[in-house]
Amino acid sequence: MKNIHRKIISLPEISSTNDLAMKLARQGEPAGTVIEAKTQNAGRGRLGKEWLSPPGTGLYFSIILRPVLPPADLSKITLAAGLGSAVALENYCGLSIRLKWPNDLFLEGKKLGGILCESSPIGHGKDTVVIVGIGLNVNTPVAAFPKKLHKRVTSLSWHGDKTISQPDLMLAMVRLIETQVHRLENGGFSQILTEWRTRDYTMGRELEWLAINGNKVRGISLGPDAQGILQIRDIHGTVHEVLSGDLSLDLGTYPA
Ligand code: BTN
Repeated sequence: MKNIHRKIISLPEISSTNDLAMKLARQGEPAGTVIEAKTQNAGRGRLGKEWLSPPGTGLYFSIILRPVLPPADLSKITLAAGLGSAVALENYCGLSIRLKWPNDLFLEGKKLGGILCESSPIGHGKDTVVIVGIGLNVNTPVAAFPKKLHKRVTSLSWHGDKTISQPDLMLAMVRLIETQVHRLENGGFSQILTEWRTRDYTMGRELEWLAINGNKVRGISLGPDAQGILQIRDIHGTVHEVLSGDLSLDLGTYPA
């Protein structure tokens, strides 16, 4: 993957920047193009969840990547992109960002942003396109979120008094995400993991994993293993590998 190409397509409104990025990539748009929108009317998160995109208050953007990676390594891009985003935010805002496996950006125990990576084989499977979509609450007023989320979300402007230039912050994030994906392509996943783990929000905490098949597992997060797969140890000492599904942390008492 080379990132000599840079083009930023800015739109006032779109359904989802990830959808347009994937469409353009399939039509041949090169790696390094970024699609950003002031608002999305069908922003998506992981597991088909809605991503609220109030106009002009947050960053909503997607980067086209064409990484040279085996299919088994594509899920590692989410961790690489999380690390790149966290480092960019730390450098730019001087805040301490934490990462909740696999794709959440946390600040002071609340969700600041999320990452949605989507991939597709192109041209008879010879090439892979990956879209890295980032949603970040920047100047988002609390009233923009539904009441049930008020205690769980945060926005950059609620912390510190630095004036944030959204275009500068976006470019800093794009560059550092690409840097981490290069590192992944060059065999650097173990170093990425080492740096990811220093920001791991769930490590050692009690959580509940709701698997895609509806099974629930309560346990302690052991963090991601060498392949980036989250490990949870339940009260019987059984270690579960979490490949997908939802993780909640606010459990009240544990064990139940
Ligand atoms: C999550 O928290 O589950 C991931 C949220 C990702 C949201 C971003 S906003 C830009 C891009 N376009 C989308 O529809 N989703 C991502």
